Amino acid sequence: MEDLTPNPKDLDPIETASRDEIEALQFHRMKRSLKHAYENSPFYRKRFIEQDVHPEELKSLKDIARFPFTTKQDLRDTYPFGMFAVPQSKLVRIHGSSGTTGKPTVVGYTAADIDHWANLIARSIRAAGGRPGDMLHNAYGYGLFTGGLGAHYGAERLGCTVIPISGGMTERQVTLMHDFKPQIIMVTPSYMLSILDEFRRQGLDPRASSLKVGIFGAEPWTNAMRQEIEEAFDMHAVDIYGLSEVMGPGVAQECVETKDGLHIWEDHFYPEIIDPVTGEVLPDGELGELVFTTLTKEGLPMVRYRTRDLTRLLPGTARSMRRMEKITGRSDDMIILRGVNVFPTQIEEQILKCKGLAPHFQIELTRSGRMDNMTVHVECTADRSAEDARAFSAKELAHHIKSVVGVTTRVLVCDPNGVPRSEGKAKRVVDNRPKE
Ligand code: DLL
Repeated sequence: MEDLTPNPKDLDPIETASRDEIEALQFHRMKRSLKHAYENSPFYRKRFIEQDVHPEELKSLKDIARFPFTTKQDLRDTYPFGMFAVPQSKLVRIHGSSGTTGKPTVVGYTAADIDHWANLIARSIRAAGGRPGDMLHNAYGYGLFTGGLGAHYGAERLGCTVIPISGGMTERQVTLMHDFKPQIIMVTPSYMLSILDEFRRQGLDPRASSLKVGIFGAEPWTNAMRQEIEEAFDMHAVDIYGLSEVMGPGVAQECVETKDGLHIWEDHFYPEIIDPVTGEVLPDGELGELVFTTLTKEGLPMVRYRTRDLTRLLPGTARSMRRMEKITGRSDDMIILRGVNVFPTQIEEQILKCKGLAPHFQIELTRSGRMDNMTVHVECTADRSAEDARAFSAKELAHHIKSVVGVTTRVLVCDPNGVPRSEGKAKRVVDNRPKE
């Protein structure tokens, strides 16, 4: 694989600034942002008064812990525009993320917000190994989802040629990749696997493709999956993280030269890790729930937003800004099976160890009597589809899951293409237990 390390002179100066400089900027921006929220969002003003705290009381970054948390429920309760801190006429765009309740969580951006966002995505693509002049195939969904348009504006800002293909029509995706020869792809890792299958179906060698780097995010994926994709396409695979409530993609990005977790763009977002049960702030290095305070957002400032994502904060490496470890999962994705906590990423890791299995999977939960059961639906590879090979793979996977994750599961090995595909975020858990 080509060395895509960016030239240090192309980085934004803040990417390599000292910790003191970064923290001074964060403090200045945090103070301004809290004041903006208090003065212009009735929601925050009420919250701060209830908690008996005022923006003037922020004397150091750590004082943020005195301010109240914000949750997805707050956005639902104020649906659609109740948390905004500017009049609607100042918003240039609305996005949303699909919720379980049917109505999306609504977020809004001023022109300055969109400008910062484009800069951060441009910075992220550069950290991933992209350069001005590269062609970028953007298969994140366009629409209310922040992936498509978020990546699009940033790729243009960096100076890339963007193919705004969006998700879906996999056959056409591969045809155009073959004909246009992009160097970069942005897509969910699970949809990249469908694209890989389609390459093979069309008789194309993925290793001979023009791709040099894939920027994958919007859902959890493992280092085992990184290896699988890098090997299959002979390209770099790096992680991009973000969430609509805080901005969209580009809150944190993995650097291609180190691939050691994601640098949080701390000049715009202040991270904390908390104990998800007590809400207490944990020291760097400990695993807990990621919380963000936005430092520059105008339309929808976020104060201590609880992401539900589980990770830990680590010191900077390729950049001076702190890193977050690859996300293990979300607290609401965690399956508690007979007392053992299980994340879909742990199952993914075990599947990737089995030669006879393809990395497409779904976990089904059922109940018999008072007992919860977990079934892993997974596909055989085309060359190991005979009855005895499948039985062997099923046993092998059940054994790995039992010995590494610690739970007994049923494994159903279906035909290639037997597991439902998604064109964006994969649905990893299907809960068929009776509702209580
Ligand atoms: O998924 C934004 C995005 C688009 C990120 C494209 C990266 C690429 P939401 O739809 O609001 O926004 O979903 C946010 O997705 O809280 C995480 O649980 C999950 N997520 C996003 N990126 C990653 C990642 C977009 N790299 C939610 N690893 C977040 C693991 C991720 N989970």
